[in-house]
Amino acid sequence: MSAATRRLLIAGNWKMNGHAADGCALARSLAAAPEDWAATLLICPPATLLAPVASVLAGSPVALGGQDCHAEAAGAHTGDISADMLADAGCTHVITGHSERRAAYSESDAVVRAKAAAAHRAGLIAIVCVGETAAERDAGKAEAVVTASLRASLPDSTRPENTVIAYEPVWAIGTGRLPIIDEVIAVHAALRAVLGEHGAAMRILYGGSVKPDNAAALLAPPDVDGALVGGASLSAADFLAIAGAA
Ligand code: PGA
Repeated sequence: MSAATRRLLIAGNWKMNGHAADGCALARSLAAAPEDWAATLLICPPATLLAPVASVLAGSPVALGGQDCHAEAAGAHTGDISADMLADAGCTHVITGHSERRAAYSESDAVVRAKAAAAHRAGLIAIVCVGETAAERDAGKAEAVVTASLRASLPDSTRPENTVIAYEPVWAIGTGRLPIIDEVIAVHAALRAVLGEHGAAMRILYGGSVKPDNAAALLAPPDVDGALVGGASLSAADFLAIAGAA
């Protein structure tokens, strides 16, 4: 499989935003949009909206995902949600290791690896996120940091069918700052090399300040297989414009 056969994925991470009325309205706009894009669309609303958004999306090609999962299938973990529960709620995907969770909850690569393994056991596609901080990039360590993080974050069960990688420079998330395209290309190539035999078929997304006006350029390189979109995924028009640029 080559870049030509890796179907692009445009994933929206709503983060901790949305109530039933506006979240369902946003999902309805996406579900009703004409299917003339070259990408699969995925939205990851907050957990409280998974059930109502799943109802809205039923019968549409837009996929549903969780933003995080616990490594165990069930048990005494107050406030947590298992991958199994996400699948039960209609999800096909789950984000694991987003930098906001790595930073705010000290999620290590080992924890991310266990979560991705749990996602696989539950039949979900894990979107495994890695990215360097501004200090790491300034020190010339971006590629070394993200390749080491990816190696340590992928469980043995990783396959192109059940895993998507998201390269998200931490300093580009929510800031409007972007790496230059050559840097994105270099990091994606380094990550693909880490994937070994699975590299040719596995999708690697770019994430961090993807907007309608920069999407075409960010999605143009053959090694960029889609985008993980935060802020711009909260607007149907912006999200669809990004999908349209794919
Ligand atoms: P952003 O977020 O598009 O708002 O920068 C991206 C992300 O956190 O996945």
